[in-house]
Amino acid sequence: MMSFEFTETQEMIRQTARDFAREQIAPSASERDKNGVFPAEIVAQLGELGFMGMMVDPEWGGSGLDAVSYVIAMEEISKVDASVGVIMSVNNSLVCWAIEKFGTDDQKERILRLLASGQKLGAYCLSEPEVGSDARNQHTTATKQDDGSFLINGTKNWITNGTSADIFLVFAQTDRSLGHKGITCFIVDGDAEGFERGQKEDKLGIRSSDTCSLGFTNVRVAPENILGEVGRGFNIAMETLNGGRIGIASQALGIAQGAFEAAVQYSKERKVREKPINALQAIQFKLAEMSVKVDAARLLTLRAAALKDRGERFVLEASQAKLFASTAAREIANEAIQVHGGYGYVREYNVERFFRDAKITEIYEGTSEIQHIVIAREILRD
Ligand code: CAA
Repeated sequence: MMSFEFTETQEMIRQTARDFAREQIAPSASERDKNGVFPAEIVAQLGELGFMGMMVDPEWGGSGLDAVSYVIAMEEISKVDASVGVIMSVNNSLVCWAIEKFGTDDQKERILRLLASGQKLGAYCLSEPEVGSDARNQHTTATKQDDGSFLINGTKNWITNGTSADIFLVFAQTDRSLGHKGITCFIVDGDAEGFERGQKEDKLGIRSSDTCSLGFTNVRVAPENILGEVGRGFNIAMETLNGGRIGIASQALGIAQGAFEAAVQYSKERKVREKPINALQAIQFKLAEMSVKVDAARLLTLRAAALKDRGERFVLEASQAKLFASTAAREIANEAIQVHGGYGYVREYNVERFFRDAKITEIYEGTSEIQHIVIAREILRD
């Protein structure tokens, strides 16, 4: 059974996230986007609020909340600034979740506790310059040494939080002959010798988040920093991305909701022949269409989160939510610009930022084409 009512805690999370987004994030969002400034102070405050490890057990420094609460908070944050949304999402659903699920108690004590409380920031390193959608084709290698440690060599690309993060989950080949069963996940410290951060990418959108490539030259990882078993890295990457896709769906949902609200607001203010433009059916139809898409995106995303909370399989539903919400975000942001006319095309109103930010949700954590593959496989599987 699916409930369409939020609990008191979930309502409280929405209010907390909404107030924080309005008071602390919104005022600087446009300026940070323009100058590509990472919101370090905001991320620290999010940690204090318990939003950097929302679903992590309080035993390990997290907030112990459900995935539905996470979606709610992600929507509210991304509604004003999708850059902050992705920083939060990667730490919560890709890094904290993976360590809590696959890590040892020692790793949770030493590393998860700091990530979940927001004292340290995490990044997830799967993509490479020549490895995107075909994630099993890892070129980065990790070679076992006599003392049981591994030496990592290679390059990772498009790493969200790359220039600011302290802890990196790195996927690498430990035995190429075994195909995807020869991939292992390592926890790498940002201070490790031989680890190098590239230039911050000059992106179309989510410009206040930092993205860079990472170089590994004989970076030594001790055996106690292998996440899960040797050879299980690809499965860890895939399982983690299932939950990550709920995070990105909720980021897209936030962008869609933000663009929709901006369009409604502008349609009330702007007049043509002494009447607000929302008296025109051309504008009304656009707003109607946007409202349907934003609500459908929300329902799909919450359904995936609710299944995850019940411990049920949610691979299909997470990919459906991510595919639909990301498409909707782009379309709604596009229409929000159209409603604003020329004003939508300049920085003064936020809709051009929403439009630029929306595009990435169709690319990272599995492109829309990959979501089609995952969805079709789930539909057709026995
Ligand atoms: N959930 C759990 N396990 C899964 C899975 C899923 N969704 N998809 C595959 N697996 C498992 C399979 O069960 C199989 O396991 P066993 O070998 O143990 O039986 C194993 O993975 C291999 O499966 P496939 O043969 O199906 O794998 P494939 O090579 O055909 O690839 C794919 C599947 C879906 C195309 C995958 O490569 C994929 O998801 N690609 C997209 C990668 C991606 O999303 N990258 C995002 C980068 S991270 C990022 O963007 C973060 C950021 O900074 C914002």
